Amino acid sequence: MAKDLRTYLEQMDRKKPQAVLRIKKPLKVAYEITALQRKLDALKKYPIIIVEHPILDDGQESPFPVVTNLTASRDLCADALGIDPRRVAMEYSAKVANRIAPVVVPRDEAPVKQMVEKGDEVNLFKFPILTHNYMDPGPYIGTGFVTCVDPDTGIDNTCLQRIWVKSPRRTGYYASVASHSMQNIAKWWGRGQDMPVVVWIGHHPTAIAGGQSRLAYPESHYPAMGGVMGEPLRLVPSETFGEELMVPADAELVIEGYVPKDVFEAEGPFGEYPGYIGPQRPSNIIEVTSVTYRRDAIYHGIGVGLADHLVLLGNFPLEARIYSVVKNVLPELMNVYMPISGRRNHVYVQVKKTRPGIGKDAIMATLPCDSRIKHVFVVDEDVDLFNESDVLWSVAYRSQWDKDLMVVKGTAVFPLDPSVPSPGNIGTRGGIDATAPPPIGIGLPRFYQMINKTPDEVAETINLKDYLEPEMLAQYPGSF
Ligand SMILES: Cc1cc2nc3c(=O)[nH]c(=O)nc-3n(C[C@H](O)[C@H](O)[C@H](O)COP(=O)(O)O)c2cc1C
Repeated sequence: MAKDLRTYLEQMDRKKPQAVLRIKKPLKVAYEITALQRKLDALKKYPIIIVEHPILDDGQESPFPVVTNLTASRDLCADALGIDPRRVAMEYSAKVANRIAPVVVPRDEAPVKQMVEKGDEVNLFKFPILTHNYMDPGPYIGTGFVTCVDPDTGIDNTCLQRIWVKSPRRTGYYASVASHSMQNIAKWWGRGQDMPVVVWIGHHPTAIAGGQSRLAYPESHYPAMGGVMGEPLRLVPSETFGEELMVPADAELVIEGYVPKDVFEAEGPFGEYPGYIGPQRPSNIIEVTSVTYRRDAIYHGIGVGLADHLVLLGNFPLEARIYSVVKNVLPELMNVYMPISGRRNHVYVQVKKTRPGIGKDAIMATLPCDSRIKHVFVVDEDVDLFNESDVLWSVAYRSQWDKDLMVVKGTAVFPLDPSVPSPGNIGTRGGIDATAPPPIGIGLPRFYQMINKTPDEVAETINLKDYLEPEMLAQYPGSF
């Protein structure tokens, strides 16, 4: 059976039922579902949430349930991909590199074609599309994978971009200037044509992870999705564009339409992933021609600005990209981690310090991988990269800021940062080399090379389970 959203949810119900929270009480799609996610996020709890009775803005219950928090837990996301949560950078990039060509299936074998609506039959408001934050102007699709084609080569591009549902057949569409989709829009408009577009929603976590992989341009994401899925992605021609624009046959919902030439409308404000409200700005729109969906479609919503938004769909692809790019020039690179706390502005990089200067080399190599990377923290191999406390301990005791801090002024930065001077997208980036200085000389270790620890032979004899009940552990007080 081909992988899709429901094979994943069934597998979770079987293997990890405690990881799925089914909500049987009605919850409004406007704010209430996000509010629930936010409350759980504050407790650092990330179950997959299924809302069985979502209430639409007109007060009616939607016939389609909502799944959200699908990608909020690093452990669950890594498990879905069959990789170690501490080795995402190398194992996810290896999967993306192992491209598997998609296959085309007949439309009667494509679940996403069970329901087909065209023209005036289309009403996007019947789907349980979430409104997330208090200044958002309306419901936003935050899990819409936008697929469009480079008209010069016919090669498709896919990525997640937000879509504001403004009316039954018209949406706002925000494509950042740096995105490959925007390059395609410019090419279609340069030819005097509207751009054909499809937006697909709801698939197996491996498929959506592959859809977000960072690739060259123009380069199809469909074989990368196959690589991450470990099986060929099943495709089917779209209703509006036929074989020129193929869609995933096992998606839950597909929206088809055009990005009309030279049409801009105000879009936003929008609660963005850094945790701030982003500004309103002129953006593209989509005029919808058709929707196709499963008879019992599950709508995949996302906790915008929460871990759900950041882990699998944002940080995994960036960790993998940084690893594959930097490893080429710096073989001493050992691992890469983007902590949720930095909301994509922070990267923790681990190196094997075989020579002086590696820390600064790592900062220089990492910064250009993406303009979102603002601060790079470089640590040694003995540090637990995934423990923020250990990383900050390195900064506290293995850096002198006059010589270890690297500040690069006048660089391109990602604009969703209130500390960036306004107007413009130019700011300051850099990093801290928090690797230990070399020893004074052979036979003369410095004190920081010898780290406090219990003697190994004693540590081996002390097991917590001999002294306390495992179920009590969760109840003992924690500490910040
Ligand atoms: C949940 C989520 C929502 C996103 N929304 C947008 C968006 O609205 N517009 C945009 O340009 N990028 C958005 N991004 C970032 C793009 O998906 C990302 O930069 C992607 O790599 C661009 O791919 P491309 O260069 O192949 O077009 C979003 C990312 C995530 C994880």
